[in-house]
Amino acid sequence: MKIKNQPENLIEWVALKANLAPIPLIDTQVAFNAARAIMAAAELGIYEAIGKNSKTADRVSSACNTHPEATRHLLDALVGIGYLQWSNGNYSLKQKFHKWLLKESESNLIGKLRFQILEWEWMAKLEDYVRTGKTLEMHSAMSPKEWQLYQEGMRDLSVNVAKEVAPKIPVPDGATAMLDIGGSHGLFSIELCKKHSSLSSTIMELPGSIEAASAIAKRYDTTDRVNYTAGNALTDDLGKEKYDLIMINNVVHHFTSEQNFALAKKIAAALKPGGVYAIGEFIRQSKPGEGGVAASTTGLYFSLTSSSGTWSIDEMEGWQKSAGLKIEKPVSPMSLPGWKILIARKS
Ligand SMILES: C[S@@+](CC[C@H](N)C(=O)[O-])C[C@H]1O[C@@H](n2cnc3c(N)ncnc32)[C@H](O)[C@@H]1O
Repeated sequence: MKIKNQPENLIEWVALKANLAPIPLIDTQVAFNAARAIMAAAELGIYEAIGKNSKTADRVSSACNTHPEATRHLLDALVGIGYLQWSNGNYSLKQKFHKWLLKESESNLIGKLRFQILEWEWMAKLEDYVRTGKTLEMHSAMSPKEWQLYQEGMRDLSVNVAKEVAPKIPVPDGATAMLDIGGSHGLFSIELCKKHSSLSSTIMELPGSIEAASAIAKRYDTTDRVNYTAGNALTDDLGKEKYDLIMINNVVHHFTSEQNFALAKKIAAALKPGGVYAIGEFIRQSKPGEGGVAASTTGLYFSLTSSSGTWSIDEMEGWQKSAGLKIEKPVSPMSLPGWKILIARKS
């Protein structure tokens, strides 16, 4: 996926063609003004206040308890960005954004947009990171409130993909036990347990995050077979031949190569014969730029915020193979472009 400089009139088209338009300013000033406006509206409850109706700026500002004139500036910006429409003094949310921005929709991204206000502060440290190589290690520095924002953001990213991948993950027949490392909101476990009636899941989460994460799972778990345990996958013993499936989604980008090799060995030992090790991750392409803007900037973001960054398929399958597991066909969901689940089985 790519954000593209698209001309909005003939003069802009000519300016772009002739390389007269100041592209780095469009990619930065225009992009960050727009991004922050979209996020601020989520934080302030603007989308929810408009809902599926059309409202004047004054009605929106009184519903959100915000300053009338400043609210009108924000609404006007959102019209320019293309999220709202304006007619006769009334603002409405474009139909295609109801799914993404209204809380009645399970697919809404409001939690992620609010979490991005914190991610914005982290990205502001990028120059320091590049100068010094010092990463933020955000998992060890978050307050309970920040953990809540983080886990709601993770919910938003996973709610559709968890449903899509649950039928595609090769869970062994009659499986009874899975371990979901860093399973957060629990949606992957919940969807798998719904699909496999004999399966129970243990979600291993960092102690600081368990309260916020398990509160989300409570809203979704209809199986009563998803439980949490406080732990650290890097230091805890995972046991011997206990699990039919061990899943780790969006976590290995926090670990170094050595940590991932060692973890794969522990996981192989903790799997029953025939058990599956599934790694869900954004994939780093083997050459710079191959994965496009989303893949390369996500890799940069992860390298700033934790100890490593995204990995290539060869690297991740390398950990699985070195632990004696046999590689199977990856799962490639449509609802999260650039993300795959790499599957390996214990013989
Ligand atoms: C990016 S989130 C992914 C959440 C979820 N698996 C998903 O895909 O939506 C990473 C999660 O891993 C957890 N985590 C990070 N390091 C961990 C560790 N060493 N052991 C267990 N969990 C860990 C974090 O608390 C966080 O909830």
